[in-house]
Amino acid sequence: MLTQAPKGTHDILPDEIDKWYYVEKKFAEICSRFGYREIRLPVFEHTELFQRGVGETTDIVQKEMYTFEDKGGRSLTLRPEGTAGVVRSYIENGMSSWPQPTKLFYNITAYRYEKMQKGRYREFHQLGVELFGAKDPSADVEVISLMVLFFNSLGIKNLTLNLNSIGCAECRKAYNQMLKEFLADKIDNMCENCRGRINRNPMRILDCKEEGCRTYLKDAPSLLDNICDDCREHFEKVTQGLQDIGIPYEIDKAIVRGLDYYNRTVFEFVSRNIGTQGTVCGGGRYDTLIELCGGPPTPGIGFAIGVERLLLEMESQGIQIPSRPGPDIYLGSIGEQADRLCERLAWDLRSKGITCIKDIMGRSVKAQMKYADKLGARYALIIGDNEVESNKASLKDMKTGESRDISLDTLIDRLIKKREND
Ligand code: HAM
Repeated sequence: MLTQAPKGTHDILPDEIDKWYYVEKKFAEICSRFGYREIRLPVFEHTELFQRGVGETTDIVQKEMYTFEDKGGRSLTLRPEGTAGVVRSYIENGMSSWPQPTKLFYNITAYRYEKMQKGRYREFHQLGVELFGAKDPSADVEVISLMVLFFNSLGIKNLTLNLNSIGCAECRKAYNQMLKEFLADKIDNMCENCRGRINRNPMRILDCKEEGCRTYLKDAPSLLDNICDDCREHFEKVTQGLQDIGIPYEIDKAIVRGLDYYNRTVFEFVSRNIGTQGTVCGGGRYDTLIELCGGPPTPGIGFAIGVERLLLEMESQGIQIPSRPGPDIYLGSIGEQADRLCERLAWDLRSKGITCIKDIMGRSVKAQMKYADKLGARYALIIGDNEVESNKASLKDMKTGESRDISLDTLIDRLIKKREND
């Protein structure tokens, strides 16, 4: 136990970190192209925020939250997602008085007590955006286009954008009644969860993963076929807007999403390459959440991408991420005097922005050169007593294997020039 990370968590090791930096940086770049600014949030929030925001009858709240009492007796929960926290911050910080719309993006860890499998973890990472204050369908189109541009910028192909509308509270009231009638003669044979949901939130039953329940749900009426005229018009404008900019989509009437705050447009980007957990990204509109959490009536829309799934998808598509180059120079030494000179040189080089790895192990020259090679150093320079005396040393080009005597006074300028020319 002591030497094993908790189930469902994973370390991101130095060999993998370049991939993470790469996608995080691209995401931040694309977000800022659309006018989004980053927000950082606490890892835990008051439990009530998620109960109310995500919804009491959702799997997340019923089964998956990491909830604990702190020493002051407060019930706190590790965030299972980012939207509720951003909404809390929007209200707390009076963002409705900022120029509207408010556009925020985030890069977070999230926590859900779920059954482990490929692409499904208990601690995972999300890159997401939330857009507040815009109710127009063009906001939906813009948010989706941001995601598409991000996937394109990474070279990801063939993700399917599945789109649906789950209407507004009014459409849902009528639909829930219809669903209840449809399930009336089936519900007694369905799972305990479904039986618990039939009166509290019938639509949530569509989310059930139990094989037996799924068979009963096969012919359930679709919400999209039963939305009101306003919601239909909104949805048509979204699909039209996507067509106008050439973003392909498929309408999937089965998408209801696993969180209660959604209304109208909901969407998921799905991969066929990475197994059963193929939903790389999910999101939608939530026009009543801010009010529900105690803020002014404000429409909202956003999405979150699962970074682990995104990286799995990139790997399965053979997308190479440029890895960071090795150090500009490896500085080795033999003897105390030489080491002191190296220390000074390393300081000067690093101060000028040159990546320099200096020997700190006191190893043999052969071992030092082997290490420089392993690090992928562009150049290597070994200093001994002679070099200290003459202030000259042999600079080895690790790519060509060629060595050239240089004055140590010119080392920094040379390296800067060489780096520019490489
Ligand atoms: P979500 O669909 O629950 O939506 O999660 C978004 C994405 O996070 C999923 O598509 C998936 O890639 C990833 N994800 C979810 N659970 C796990 C897990 N256990 N392991 C690995 N990856 C996972 C939300 O979280 C909403 N807050 C999205 C949103 C933002 N809607 C509006 N704004």
